[in-house]
Amino acid sequence: MTIWITGAHGMLGTDLSTLARRQFAQIDTVISEELPQTLSHKTSSSSETTANRLNLHKNLVRPCRLVVSDDLLTSSSETTILETDRETDITDSAVVSDFIEKNKPDIIINCAAYTAVDNAESEKELNYKLNCTGIKNLGECSAQAGIPIIHISTDYVLNGSEPNQLRETDPINPQNEYGRAKAEGELALAKSNPKHIIVRTAWLYGINGKNFVKSMLNLMRTKEKISVVGDQLGNPTWTFDLSRALLKIAHQLTSQQINLYQLNSPQPQQLNPQQPQYGIYHFSGDGITSWHGFAVEIQKQAIAKGLLQKSIEIAAIPSSEWKSPANRPLWSALDKTKIKNNFGVEVPAWQTSLSQYLDLELAATQPHSTIPNHTL
Ligand SMILES: NC(=O)c1ccc[n+]([C@@H]2O[C@H](COP(=O)([O-])OP(=O)(O)OC[C@H]3O[C@@H](n4cnc5c(N)ncnc54)[C@H](OP(=O)(O)O)[C@@H]3O)[C@@H](O)[C@H]2O)c1
Repeated sequence: MTIWITGAHGMLGTDLSTLARRQFAQIDTVISEELPQTLSHKTSSSSETTANRLNLHKNLVRPCRLVVSDDLLTSSSETTILETDRETDITDSAVVSDFIEKNKPDIIINCAAYTAVDNAESEKELNYKLNCTGIKNLGECSAQAGIPIIHISTDYVLNGSEPNQLRETDPINPQNEYGRAKAEGELALAKSNPKHIIVRTAWLYGINGKNFVKSMLNLMRTKEKISVVGDQLGNPTWTFDLSRALLKIAHQLTSQQINLYQLNSPQPQQLNPQQPQYGIYHFSGDGITSWHGFAVEIQKQAIAKGLLQKSIEIAAIPSSEWKSPANRPLWSALDKTKIKNNFGVEVPAWQTSLSQYLDLELAATQPHSTIPNHTL
């Protein structure tokens, strides 16, 4: 099986690629093959140091092809993971089509996106080019090749209200330019390739990108008091949890059984682990909090782990006091029933995932320690 991960340098893409290699690599034999440049690393041993593991993130040269043993699907098959980023420009249809023609992926997981939510208010063209045209290109080219595509979207395409957690069937109602482009991207994908899975997620954080947790830790180290929005509610989501979910879905979609079901079934959608369906799904951490509640928990856990030395005052403010170019929905809590039932995906409590993420942050500050096993 060949999995093409786009946007593999991004916050989600890096974790997804790392996890894919770790899951598929069994784990001490990884043979890298040159695409234009060689990447070769051993991903196994429990004695691997933090520094090595972090270098593994930093030193990736893409596009790369890893031919690894595939433990999860069948014991005898091989999985190739193709990781590309900007150099394989998804906004250029010819580039996408050539890449598919040459590398013949069995499935695409698209993590490439324009994600600067506030800048999108002024950089409208770039936002649409990437979040809409790029997705349309991926949809059309994957459809032509007859392969499925998993694409990541956002809670910002919706705007519901408490207490109903947002469902996949809720009406599209974006409140900002980023959300509008992502919503159009969803539509373009749905129109162009029936074999699509759109996974909407929210409040993402990961070790390889700028994110809320890192920003809070930095502020908490340098300020005596901070103000954080307390009236926007949602689900913090760790990129590693989402990556696990995406790979689980990819495995199921590429198994012959599921594809045959999809091709032959005239039945309407049924929520059944044996019969996953293409379409839209929601995935985020379990449990609802505000940005303020998230910040308070970050501080509490970071102090307990020794990442922070002291506690500071964290004031809750309303969104109206936090001026930003883009409007954001007040209610972003996603209902994950469909993805759990259809794909058997696990949805960890957001506090548990935060704790595991903070273990990684802690390991990164202690170069001679090993990254805890439960995190990777
Ligand atoms: N971050 C969040 O809180 C959040 C919340 C909900 C949903 N999402 C969705 O989750 C997905 C992953 O988000 P993320 O935070 O991991 O994004 P990210 O870190 O911004 O990564 C996006 C990647 O796409 C690359 N890229 C840019 N232009 C490209 C092009 N023309 N062709 C190919 N690749 C290109 C970017 O490269 P450069 O870095 O060089 O630009 C970057 O490596 C996105 O679909 C996003 O909309 C994110």
